[in-house]
Order: sequence, then C-alpha cells, then structure tokens
Amino acid sequence: METTEKIYKGVPLSGIRTPEIIDAIIEKRNSMKTNEIAELLGFDSFRPVNAICRLLNKENGVTTTKAPKKPRIIVKDPKNVFKNYYGSGKEKARQLIADSIKATKRQSSNILTLPAEKWEMEKNILKQKPGYKFTAVERVKETYQIMIKNMVNNQILFDSVIATANKSIGEITVNDGEDTYSSAILDYCGFIDTFYDEIDDMMKRNLVKKGGYIAITLSENDRVIGHPNHINSQTNQYIRNCYAHDEVTGAKVTNDLVNILVHTNTGYEIVQRFPYKDTKVKMQLFIIKRIDD
Ligand SMILES: C[S@@+](CC[C@H](N)C(=O)[O-])C[C@H]1O[C@@H](n2cnc3c(N)ncnc32)[C@H](O)[C@@H]1O
Repeated sequence: METTEKIYKGVPLSGIRTPEIIDAIIEKRNSMKTNEIAELLGFDSFRPVNAICRLLNKENGVTTTKAPKKPRIIVKDPKNVFKNYYGSGKEKARQLIADSIKATKRQSSNILTLPAEKWEMEKNILKQKPGYKFTAVERVKETYQIMIKNMVNNQILFDSVIATANKSIGEITVNDGEDTYSSAILDYCGFIDTFYDEIDDMMKRNLVKKGGYIAITLSENDRVIGHPNHINSQTNQYIRNCYAHDEVTGAKVTNDLVNILVHTNTGYEIVQRFPYKDTKVKMQLFIIKRIDD
C-alpha cells in the first residue's frame, strides 16, 4: 500500500498537526511563549508546539543554535600575605630606607609609600626626623581599613599623611606628572615580575624628584623561574636570553632585572642592595637614587 505523507509549510501532518493548528502557531509564535500557545490550543505540554516551531524554522532556513557561552572572567581580589613586621632583616632594611629618606629635604616632601597595617616604616622615619609627609597606598581593602584606623589613632601619623588610597601604585600614579614625589618606598615584598612594569613606568616618567630615592623590596622568585604559566613574564623572557649553561637563581634574576631597569632608565643609580631572610623567603632591598645634577 502506498502512503504519501502530507506536508504543510514544512510540517508533516498527523494527529494534532493539522493546517489550522500550524497556522495558529505561526500567528502566535512571535508574541507568545510556547507554553502559552500550548495552553491556548489545549495541549497538555509545550513540547508539540516546540517541535512544530523547529520544523517551521527549518523550512524557513532559520537555525536556532545557541549563542556560545562567554568565558567567565574571574577577577581575584589581591590578598595580603605580609606578616614579617618585626624580623631582624626587615628592621635593618627599614633603617637603610630611613637613612636614605633622612638625606632628603622634609620641606614640601611627599613620599609615596606602602605602610600596610602598622605604619612601622613611617613611624620609624618620623621618630628619627619628624616633618616628612606621605602619600599612603594599599590595594587590599581589609588591610587598607586597618591602615586607616591605625593612622587616625596616631596624631603624628595623622598630621604627616597628605593622601591615602585603596588602590595599587599603578592606579594612583597613572595621572601623576614628573617630580610628583620626593621619594617612593615601594616595600612590595613580592616578585619582580608583578611590579616590573609599575617600577619601569615610575622611572620612565621621573615621578620622583632629582635627589630622591626609590626603595624597592622584592622576594627572590626561585619558585616561578621558567614557569610555563608565566611565559611572557619578565623572568621567563630574561631566562630565555641567558646562556644555557648559566645557573639561573631567583637572586640572579631579581638582581639582573633591577639592573636592567636602572640601565634602561637614564638618570638613576643603585646606591644600596641588602639581601635578608627572616622567614623561608629570601628578600632583597634595592635603594635607587634619582641622580642630582
Ligand atoms: C610588605 S608590606 C609593607 C610593609 C611596611 N612597609 C612595613 O614596613 O612594615 C606591602 C603592602 O603593600 C601592599 N601592596 C603590595 N603591592 C602593592 C601595589 N602594587 N599597590 C598597592 N599596594 C600594594 C600589600 O598588600 C601589603 O599590605
């Protein structure tokens, strides 16, 4: 027996799929949801309506592929892992920084600094030579809040702070002009990779006045040397250019990258380097001077 399937507007007719039902769906599908059409037409489920819509779309050349999912961007808030407030190496490093700052003028000073919660560096400087002024920056919100609480509870500090910001050094300096700061105490205590561009930018734009200092504290990054996740990091790029048989250590990379920063930015010299180790992590303090003519 020969059966010829009847097709109406691309939909094979059978059971509830009558021309009237198909026309009703065509009429309503731009203004109603499929479950509403199903209810209107007396169906128990929206599925027959969906199926008919798919066939109509196919007939009209409409494809209903889902839009590709956008990748989720997870922005991680920076976390503060600094705990070494009172190590002997840290205190010696603070003193070396204080000695450099004390060699600069107090009048119209503006020292860009990262006090963390306790302001140990700034209190130390002010105790030895009062009168310096600071711009204090902290990127971690919780640390910033404690930092502010401790500042308002200390009158000497309170009088010495020109500005505070819950931002990164890069964000706070983005619109600053040449000679904005008398010195900068960049007591990062992190890897050079994270801060290389920020330091480079500060030196290129000469944000610190002539005769002022840029003190940088860094940890030696043995742990990430040559890490495949950081392929374009300064460290990896540096290692790629090293002689294959050289021993490349965190100390060497950190040192050499700071040397490169000073070498490529005219008018600066390293006047102090102090390696120390209070915890498991090896640290290096560099004090760079913007040369006075
Ligand atoms: C090592 S602690 C500062 C210690 C302090 N100067 C002292 O002598 O005790 C560094 C602080 O700076 C913050 N920090 C690190 N890098 C930063 C950046 N690029 N911008 C703003 N804050 C930063 C950290 O969250 C941390 O609280």
